[in-house]
Amino acid sequence: MPNKDPQTQLVKHLTDVHSIEEQAAVQMRRAPDLVEGALAESFRRHLGETESQEQRVRQRLQAHNASPSKLKDVAGQAGGFGMVLFARSQPDTPGKLVMHAFSYEHMEVAAYELLGIAAREAGDEETATMAAAIADEEREMAGRLAAGFDEAVEQALRQVEPEDLGDQLGTYLADVHALEAQSKELLERSKEMDVPEALRAALARHLEETEGHLRKVERRLDDRGAAPSAIKDAMLRLGALNWGVFFAAQPDTPAKLAGFAYAVENLEVAAYELLLRVARRAGDQETVDLAESILNEEKNAAKAIADQWPVSMSIA
Ligand SMILES: [Fe+2]
Ligand SMILES: [Fe+2]
Ligand SMILES: [Fe+2]
Repeated sequence: MPNKDPQTQLVKHLTDVHSIEEQAAVQMRRAPDLVEGALAESFRRHLGETESQEQRVRQRLQAHNASPSKLKDVAGQAGGFGMVLFARSQPDTPGKLVMHAFSYEHMEVAAYELLGIAAREAGDEETATMAAAIADEEREMAGRLAAGFDEAVEQALRQVEPEDLGDQLGTYLADVHALEAQSKELLERSKEMDVPEALRAALARHLEETEGHLRKVERRLDDRGAAPSAIKDAMLRLGALNWGVFFAAQPDTPAKLAGFAYAVENLEVAAYELLLRVARRAGDQETVDLAESILNEEKNAAKAIADQWPVSMSIA
């Protein structure tokens, strides 16, 4: 039986965000080497913020006579390194890095929103105030990354000859297909978990949309004459990214599931933002339209999940 004592829950959430910050710090130290200019600067600046966040969280843990969990932090550091390695292994390293970093910042936003709820339930106003302040810093970093989508595509495509742009667009399309397939798996798995009805309904609704996205992207790949192996290749390319490692743990509570799903939806948001930009460059209006319409649904899905944070904390 999970322990529902508010004090125990609060310490668990503090331990979780501490491990998330340790993982973030590892990424922020290595990320600037993979990009240039303002993007590299964003990562450097966020390293300072991340180190300060880690200290603030550690102080709140100490105030509750708890220490950061050694075991979790080690897993976090390994995962952090994995994400940078993953981006480095991809043909469009700057794009993949910004996309995953954007998703990671949203996972942090979710974790701090949930921490704030846990802190208020335990009557710890100081932690609630800290959680709100750090959530704002994470949202700001996500905003800086979003402002860098153009630059990320620019840096990723710098070496691509104009006549190869169409092939490149094909790989971006195949990549969103692979992401949709992974996200469908996560949404299906969540059906087996004991989750509050409102959260279950939001995820079920998006599962249906996700199946539609898969069909539409497949059709677009077909119409563009993609090789039948394109989808398989993308699965292999993205298979190097183990979501469980990337997010430090598999979700085992409704609150974690909501945070995880929110991060995954934002991973898709970033993927479609990149696809949209590559399609514009390649002059493929049909793919532009497709990316824009799906992008909207991904943003709405993320919002619908965020609306369920208070409910997802009710069965912890
Ligand atoms: Fe952080
Ligand atoms: Fe962050
Ligand atoms: Fe989605």
